Amino acid sequence: MRSVVHTRQGDPAEVLELREEDGRPRPGAGEVLVRLRVRPVHPGDLIAVEGGLPGLPDQDSQPRTPGVEGMGVVEEAGADVRAPLVGRRVAAFPAPGTWAEYVVVPAERAVPVPDEVGDDTAALMLVNPLTLVMLHRAVEQALDGHDGPVVQTAAGSSVGRLVSAHAERHGLPLVNLVRGAAGARKVREMFPGQPVIVTSDADWQDQVRRATGGGGARAVLDCVGGSLTRDLVGLLGDGGTLISYGRLGSGVTMLDELPLVNRGLTVRGVTIWHWTDRTPEQRAEDLAFAVDLARTSPELLEVAARYDLADVKAAVKHARRPGKSGTVLLTSPAETGGAR
Ligand SMILES: NC(=O)c1ccc[n+]([C@@H]2O[C@H](COP(=O)([O-])OP(=O)(O)OC[C@H]3O[C@@H](n4cnc5c(N)ncnc54)[C@H](OP(=O)(O)O)[C@@H]3O)[C@@H](O)[C@H]2O)c1
Repeated sequence: MRSVVHTRQGDPAEVLELREEDGRPRPGAGEVLVRLRVRPVHPGDLIAVEGGLPGLPDQDSQPRTPGVEGMGVVEEAGADVRAPLVGRRVAAFPAPGTWAEYVVVPAERAVPVPDEVGDDTAALMLVNPLTLVMLHRAVEQALDGHDGPVVQTAAGSSVGRLVSAHAERHGLPLVNLVRGAAGARKVREMFPGQPVIVTSDADWQDQVRRATGGGGARAVLDCVGGSLTRDLVGLLGDGGTLISYGRLGSGVTMLDELPLVNRGLTVRGVTIWHWTDRTPEQRAEDLAFAVDLARTSPELLEVAARYDLADVKAAVKHARRPGKSGTVLLTSPAETGGAR
């Protein structure tokens, strides 16, 4: 089987390599073997290859295969798997090691894909929509009954668009931040009713203050961090919350520099890795939301480009390209019958 591996952390375009080995893994009790067709390249996948982020484990010397989600067909089920999954198209998450031809996951992590959802959309069906669910809950808690307003960074990102669409649907006042004019054009086209502000404008913070009214933002959803954090906290109204869920930016902001105490501010993190802590009922509800989103709004799960697994180095470079729109996919050749 083919798999992408790295034996040390570093620049993904340098440390990732394709390996071909005989054989394939076997599912244990309660597990299924998925023959993968499509897997996304998420920013978090690249950060895990690079390492060095606080809270992430360093890699030991064992080869590691990146990837946390993907879609394919269940080829084999282990003992005790009661659901009729063999032969079905599924999306899998959390599924560590999806940048390979096969992955073995607990059967409950293999989510059947409706016929009307294509392979590429199915490959993007879980991580970002479930992140949206987690962010939605964090925003609800931060608003604590208030109407908003909410500010978000990297609004042109795949997750940012889900947030914008969700805000539009729920009437949540949202101010979108992007770092450049090209990104701003795209977000304005997609969400003409929402303000879009470019952080390279000298007066961008004043523009945000005007857009959020006198009281400032009740919550800022941020995946940029670094030195931008200080400015973002300045946009919060008293009692507001900075929700941090990514680290695309550079530089640092010291916690002690922030006026947390005097202004009663909250800083909190959100990670999809805590999604598995939700109750089985909550997870079933969240998965139903994700599947429904894939069925009804596939345009929100945009594909930037498709690369064969063997072209992983080109794929990871594309995934980091400024101005990219959507998510880069890693594909496997279609089996007989063809990928949808
Ligand atoms: N916490 C979680 O569980 C979780 C789950 C999923 C995603 N995330 C995070 O969510 C973020 C977005 O992920 P995604 O998959 O939606 O990303 P994506 O589709 O790859 O888009 C990346 C976006 O970030 C912008 N960007 C890149 N570097 C930036 C910088 N230094 N300053 C400002 N904007 C920058 C890009 O803008 P341009 O158009 O200008 O290039 C682009 O719009 C990432 O930080 C990711 O790690 C977190």
